[in-house]
Amino acid sequence: MARSRSNYKLSIFIFLFLSLQLTTFCNSVPLSTSSRWIISNSSGKRVKLTCVNWVSHLQPMIAEGLEKQPLDYIAKQIVSTGFNCVRFTWPTYMFTRPNYGSITVSQSLHKFNLSAAKSGISKNNPRILNMKVADLHKAVVEELGKNNIMVVLDNHVSLPNWCCSGGDGNGFFGDVNFDPKEWLRGLATVAKTYKGTPAVSVRVCVYVHA
Ligand SMILES: *[C@@H]1O[C@H](CO)[C@@H](O)[C@H](O)[C@H]1NC(C)=O
Ligand SMILES: *[C@@H]1O[C@H](CO)[C@@H](O)[C@H](O)[C@H]1NC(C)=O
Repeated sequence: MARSRSNYKLSIFIFLFLSLQLTTFCNSVPLSTSSRWIISNSSGKRVKLTCVNWVSHLQPMIAEGLEKQPLDYIAKQIVSTGFNCVRFTWPTYMFTRPNYGSITVSQSLHKFNLSAAKSGISKNNPRILNMKVADLHKAVVEELGKNNIMVVLDNHVSLPNWCCSGGDGNGFFGDVNFDPKEWLRGLATVAKTYKGTPAVSVRVCVYVHA
């Protein structure tokens, strides 16, 4: 799937377990490992991540579905359908290039002629229209945190786009959109961004796969 490149079948799972300031309402985090198990530090019990995928790496860099339902409603639906975790995608450029991350939701929708989505967002999530897309990413993570949902931040691509084929230029080493230094900068920025988010009650992992 993401970041796939035929030459790089080797799976790379990089979990950067960040030392977040954890608020008192979180119960199963922080997490750590014991042999092959993921466990809760506080209880010592095993934690199973049951994640739903939520896409935010496509061209507009806006979490999909916010034109259909309010953000807090979606978070609560995730919980009520039995999930405790979201694998939330992000493109590297959103955190490394100001002309990507600093564009507002409204500007981004306009850029891609997404007028139906714009009217849906105006109705369901009006407060996000003037947010920068990188700030929206953070707002979604915060809302998930408020609902005690754990988040695996998934660095899905470099250039915001649908993926993944061996020839889309958006995978790993040697691909036109992949600059290893910029990639590392993106990972560091995301780590810092989410470490400083006080409302986040979850253990945030940065996840990369080949
Ligand atoms: C969680 O437990 C691990 C393993 O015992 C430990 O290394 C780590 O410091 C703990 N983290 C926190 C935030 O307590
Ligand atoms: C948006 O619409 C304008 C005017 O019809 C067009 O020139 C432009 O190519 C469209 N952009 C996209 C991303 O489809």
